[in-house]
Amino acid sequence: MTGLPLTVLGIETSCDETAAAVVTLRADGRAEVRSSVIASQVAEHAPYGGVVPEIAARSHVEAIDTIVLRALADAGVGVKDLDGIAATAGPGLVGGVMVGLSFGKAMALALDRPLAAVNHLEGHAVSTRLAADVPYPFLLLLVSGGHCQLLEVAGVGACRRLGSTIDDAAGEAFDKIAKTLGLPYPGGPALERLAEGGDPARFPLPRALLGRDGCDFSFSGLKTAAARIAETLTKDADRRDLAAAAQAAIARQLAERSVRAMQAYARAHQGRDLRFVVAGGVAANRAVRAVLQDLAAAEGFAFEAPPLAYCTDNAAMIALAGAERLAAGLSDGLDALARPRWPLDAAAAAARPTHKAGRKGAKA
Ligand code: KG4
Ligand code: ZN
Repeated sequence: MTGLPLTVLGIETSCDETAAAVVTLRADGRAEVRSSVIASQVAEHAPYGGVVPEIAARSHVEAIDTIVLRALADAGVGVKDLDGIAATAGPGLVGGVMVGLSFGKAMALALDRPLAAVNHLEGHAVSTRLAADVPYPFLLLLVSGGHCQLLEVAGVGACRRLGSTIDDAAGEAFDKIAKTLGLPYPGGPALERLAEGGDPARFPLPRALLGRDGCDFSFSGLKTAAARIAETLTKDADRRDLAAAAQAAIARQLAERSVRAMQAYARAHQGRDLRFVVAGGVAANRAVRAVLQDLAAAEGFAFEAPPLAYCTDNAAMIALAGAERLAAGLSDGLDALARPRWPLDAAAAAARPTHKAGRKGAKA
């Protein structure tokens, strides 16, 4: 164990944001975000309709030192004030991960400070603790562009996977349906705006895995059905209705699978406070949040979701995960690997693989 307080620099480069942040884990165990800087590459990828890995990696190289210096300046912190360096080591686009992880290793070596090689999913898992006092354990629905999982989170390094998508991630479904509706990248927020005022009951969409045991997800049937309908639409009002129907169908699938996890979790934690946390980029969606909030209330769970700025990728969540790891005595050597795939619960992923090596889809 390393004593608190701990001030940690976090670095995030696993997808299309170059981000750096300084977070202090205070003596009372609460996080204080001292700075959080995010340089988005959206404009560079938008012409291609999605993230181009080589462009992302080069762009991280160009931005990383400026962004780290800005995070330190915004926090009013000098490098000597840092107690540790945390960098995302995966899962993600490996060219980008290598940029941030190498930068973090170089800083850790030069400053003689410990390194935390952080799993990006663990960052999302702790993100709700950046702005609120949410004690462990909790049930987590992690919904982002690359991931859709239900996890029991007992602390850093102690996550148990209850279910995962067997094909696309929820954010991927949002993005792909948005594309077929002619919306710009990134599609999730654009689809949410288009869905405003649309009629979600107008187009019936398939309900995957209905009645199936377990807590896995599937979005590919819904995505394909929505894409087929989108091709036939010409009027804006019809596109609005389809956007509303797709958004409602994604929210319904998240709820239908989460309720199973809630019931299993409640049985295993009888007599204890029950907390349900939703995190990741899709947690920014108001319709999704509303459905899950109602569900949590009905099942007797307190509902928590990070503020919108901490739902999508950021480095504050990486800094906090790193600080909690260092506080627990967990640090990494300079030989830590950059990993394109890295399940949070390796045992569950090996026992019930949803993806074979090399296949496209959720990364962990
Ligand atoms: O967590 P995140 O920033 O990156 C990953 O780790 O994947 O999540 C990005 C994903 C994208 O698929 C994006 O379309 C989706 O989150 N997203 C949304 C919204 N904001 C972001 N999806 C639906 N509604 C939103 N408001
Ligand atoms: Zn993410």
